[in-house]
Amino acid sequence: MIDIHSHILPGIDDGAADLTESLVMALMAVQDGIKTIIATPHISGHLTHRALIQAKVDELQTSLKNAAIPLEIVVGAEVPFHFNGTFGDFTLGRSSFLLLELPHTHVPANASQKIHELHVLGLKVIIAHPERNSEISQHPDILDELLECGALVQLTAESVTGDLGIQTQYCAHYLLRRKKVHFLATDCHSSLQRKPLLQKALKIAGKIIGKKQASALVEENPRLILEPYGREAAEEGHS
Ligand SMILES: [Fe+2]
Repeated sequence: MIDIHSHILPGIDDGAADLTESLVMALMAVQDGIKTIIATPHISGHLTHRALIQAKVDELQTSLKNAAIPLEIVVGAEVPFHFNGTFGDFTLGRSSFLLLELPHTHVPANASQKIHELHVLGLKVIIAHPERNSEISQHPDILDELLECGALVQLTAESVTGDLGIQTQYCAHYLLRRKKVHFLATDCHSSLQRKPLLQKALKIAGKIIGKKQASALVEENPRLILEPYGREAAEEGHS
């Protein structure tokens, strides 16, 4: 499986506190069947350079290799809706997919317009965990307007399992039933809270939309993000 949303990098945001915690999370993920994790730290005031994220990814990848933990880490970011910088600098891997985080309380009035503008720039917007947005969790059909603008949807695994509350779970299942979900990811923050696990949520999703469709949320669809990355990396290796 491929996890497209994580805070596994050590000491860069509110995710893993240190390298030891990152390695424990990595081990949990591998044991759960995760082979690749896209590291998506929150872009904020002190973190506005992709090179810094890349350096942390490289460091963690080296530590994983030394610890013989078979997990690939890919550079990415979780970009807030009201980010003032260049969105295109913070895509997932080398793709044009952008993991966009809405405010927690509401859907901004200009959300559709913003997603349209990002698409015009060539960016494919993935909305991070809309089921955890208060307005969407109570009125999930609000999301339709954003989907019509071409946005894709990522659910958090613990929303599907019910660990984040009944309202969030209801919304997550509602979106699954209506085939409005494209990715299932952990959004892991530590080995104790929002854990790097997908299997439990995958099984529940499988009961709602069928095994094959559920598997696409953690395998085929995430692979579409990484394929150009892998291809370009391979080409560079041969040049
Ligand atoms: Fe996140």
